[in-house]
Order: sequence, then C-alpha cells, then structure tokens
Amino acid sequence: MRILSGIQPSGNLHLGNYFGMMKRMIDQQENHELFCFLVNYHALTSVFDREYLRKQTFGAACDFLALGLDPDKTVFWIQSDVPEVTELTWLLSNVTGVGLLERCHAYKDKVAKGIAANFGLFSYPVLMAADILCFGGERVPVGKDQKQHLEVTRDIAIRFNQTYGETFVIPEADIEENVAVVPGIDGEKMSKSYGNTIEIFSDEQTLRNKVMSIKTDSTPVDEPKPIEGNILYELYSLFLDDKGKAELRERFLTPGLRYGDVKKELFAIIWEYFAPYRKEREKLEADRGYVIDTMKKGAEKARNVARIYLDKARSQVGLDYWDQ
Ligand code: ADP
Ligand code: TRP
Repeated sequence: MRILSGIQPSGNLHLGNYFGMMKRMIDQQENHELFCFLVNYHALTSVFDREYLRKQTFGAACDFLALGLDPDKTVFWIQSDVPEVTELTWLLSNVTGVGLLERCHAYKDKVAKGIAANFGLFSYPVLMAADILCFGGERVPVGKDQKQHLEVTRDIAIRFNQTYGETFVIPEADIEENVAVVPGIDGEKMSKSYGNTIEIFSDEQTLRNKVMSIKTDSTPVDEPKPIEGNILYELYSLFLDDKGKAELRERFLTPGLRYGDVKKELFAIIWEYFAPYRKEREKLEADRGYVIDTMKKGAEKARNVARIYLDKARSQVGLDYWDQ
C-alpha cells in the first residue's frame, strides 16, 4: 500500500498536525511504502516573506526527522524540489470544473475571513491533486479538514481517466475519527492560521502559558465537569490509552476536580512526551548539512516516481507530438 501525505511549512507544527497527520504517517512506516513531503508551493498562497518560508521549511524537515521519520524507509522531500507536480497541475486543471473549486470550504472560509483571494488559493486543490496523483498515492492520512480536498482529487483523477484513458490511481482519504479535529486552546480547530495552537516544539514557558490558557467552562469545583465539547478533556485524551481515558473521564465526572490542576498535569505530560524528540531536534538543527542532504536525496527518489506518472499523463493528453 502506498501511503502519501504532505503538510504546509507555513508556521510551527502543532498538536493538530501531529495527531492528525504526522504521527499517523510515522507509525505506518514499518509496514507500508510511505511518501511524505513539505508543501512549500502551497505555503506560497499565504506566506510572502522569503526568510520566514526558508526557516519554516527547514524547521519542518527537522520536526519530522526528530519525530522519527526514517529517510531510509520513507521517501521524504520538499515539494518544490520535484517541480514535475506543477506541470501535472496544468494538465489536471483542464479536467477540473470551476464549480468544483468554488465549492471548496477551505477557499470559501478564507474568502469569508476577508483574505484577498488570489488564483493560487483558488487552484490550491488542483496542486494538491497533482501531489497525490504524481506519486500514485493510494491512501492519504489527513485531518478531517482535508476530506473535501481529497474528494476533489478523486473527482479530478476519475475525470482525467475517463477523458484520456486509465492513468491515475484513485486515492482514498484516511481520517481517524477520534483525532479528526484536534481543538485549539479556544475550542476552534487548532490551526497555524488561527493563532490557537499548542506547538510541538515550543520552549517550556510558552508551552506552559499555552496550556494554562486553554479555555474552560465555569462549572463550580464541587460539581461534575462536562465531557462533551470540553477542550481540556479532549486535548488530554490525545495522550492516553483507553484505560487512561476511562480514568480521566471518571475524574471529570467526580465533583472536586479543578481545571487548573488538570492543566498543570497536561503541561507536564506534553513536555515529557516530546522530551526525547526535542533532544533529537536540537541535534538536527545544528547539522544543517545532514538535513539538506537528506531532503535532496529524498527529492531524487520522489522525482523518479513523479517522472513515470507525468510522462504517462503527457502522452495521454498528446504532448508527445514527436512520437507519432
Ligand atoms: P494548519 O491548519 O495548521 O495550517 P495544515 O493545513 O498545514 O494545518 O494541515 C496539515 C495536516 O495536519 C493536515 O493533514 C491536516 O488535516 C492536519 N491538521 C491540521 N490541523 C488539525 C487539527 N486541528 N486536527 C486534526 N488534524 C489537523
Ligand atoms: N492541503 C493540505 C493541508 O493543508 C496539504 C497538502 C498538500 C496535502 N498536498 C497534499 C495533503 C497531498 C495530503 C496530500 O493540510
């Protein structure tokens, strides 16, 4: 099974990214063929500061490697090192209805928030489809917010295959329901663009402040606490197994629980959980040469696969005019 997914290096990676996508990718690298990449072309739709983009791209590469992504087992690269995907985007755009893109929530939400819509933002899902189809991705682990983009990818692939003949694998989204949407500290979806994240690798004081500012309700201490929609409960549960979750539930339902105490515990758990990865990340950050070399090698492997799908697509649409 070829498993593939990408993430934008448009800000510091957070618990939503980790539980929604990163961990689920890394957990599967022993048993499957994994393709993982940092989508800096996509990040261009919202980042207009080159120094920032460079820094975040390098940082995200360090994050994945520190968290255990093994470049010998997984093909790991930076999107713009495989420019074949931009050519494929053009070929796909001719079988992509404008209506399909107009219906995309991610686009509509951004426009509704007053973000000036550029063509990059509008055509974002076509580039994403190219990312997946160019490598024959079969299963795509993502958070729930990407479900619709996966449906668009499937539509485009099906339309291309119908128009020009069998070319692309039709991918499937892989969304794990219990971590489908990790809430941010304000209860909205945790997102780099909403300023409500708990970052994986922030310093101790920042992490503490973030956890202490998780929004809680005003249930009195001597009453049972609600479970449903409780941000603190949901975030804490991410770090627990079934038994741990049942115990936490019991504690919330028993009068006397203080949210402030639970927040302190949660801070300690997050800090401990990422401690070994933090050490590893410091080493990687100091070894720029190794990280860059690893990403370049990954891009070479990815390019070899991309070339196969792109050449097939070029030929299917009739760009190989010399070959008649
Ligand atoms: P962000 O919204 O922070 O910019 P991205 O859009 O770059 O995050 O998402 C990268 C990956 O992380 C995607 O697979 C996405 O579904 C997942 N993801 C992001 N935020 C969350 C969240 N709050 N809960 C679950 N998964 C998430
Ligand atoms: N759109 C995805 C996000 O914002 C990132 C992405 C780009 C992606 N290309 C992809 C995810 C291909 C999976 C597969 O999270």
